[in-house]
Amino acid sequence: MSKYVERFQTPERVLHWIVTVSFFTLLLSGLGLYSRLFTGYFNLFGGGVNAILVHKTAGVIFFISSISLFLKHLKDITKFDDDDREWFKTQGGYLSKGESHFNIGKYNPGQKIFAVYIGIATMILGTTGLFIWFPLFFPRWLVQLSLMTHGLMFVGSIMFVIVHIYLATIGNPGTIDAMLYGTVRRKWAMKHHPKWYKEVSGGE
Ligand code: HEM
Repeated sequence: MSKYVERFQTPERVLHWIVTVSFFTLLLSGLGLYSRLFTGYFNLFGGGVNAILVHKTAGVIFFISSISLFLKHLKDITKFDDDDREWFKTQGGYLSKGESHFNIGKYNPGQKIFAVYIGIATMILGTTGLFIWFPLFFPRWLVQLSLMTHGLMFVGSIMFVIVHIYLATIGNPGTIDAMLYGTVRRKWAMKHHPKWYKEVSGGE
């Protein structure tokens, strides 16, 4: 029997990496718009005008791909069962010493909250981005409120994404394989997502 089990099919992985590349493009092209401290980042794009153009283009790509990823996950990330509640009670074991074991399905509750946050943030960032993009079409107060909300959602997203990258790489070795190759080791699956593993391996 193979040591590996399939976790994600190619279209889902491609979608995830489109989300990732567009997210970091938005981050780099948007930093100079966020604060004068970061205007040096405009040079990466050959100046402010180009950076804004890149930001708008990456924004459209991020919006479409992130909402598609959210809808693809919707069924798995919006249901919390008793095993998830057990995970919440002990904060997934992250704050206690020693190994913790939970009967977790495809995603743990932390991953579900992250995915739901990114989905909601994408909708808010996209809507406020549109108001900022066409400021003359909308009331001044709406454009100003959008500027503030856009910045706040960006700060929240980058904080979540930093934790996400840590947990998907150094924090939980073997996890990145899922997004690189589409497969994970059976041992990894049994340890991190035993309930999901039971489903995909036919109750093994
Ligand atoms: C270098 C950057 C990134 C790495 C290495 C990475 C890695 C991963 C990995 C390995 C998974 C699968 C986890 C599993 O199988 O349990 C995953 C899932 C996911 N990623 Fe990323 N990711 C990155 C950036 C992003 C960004 C920028 C976003 C969104 C803005 C994002 C959103 C998601 C979502 C929604 C999922 C599914 C739910 C979850 O596992 O939390 N990722 N990522």
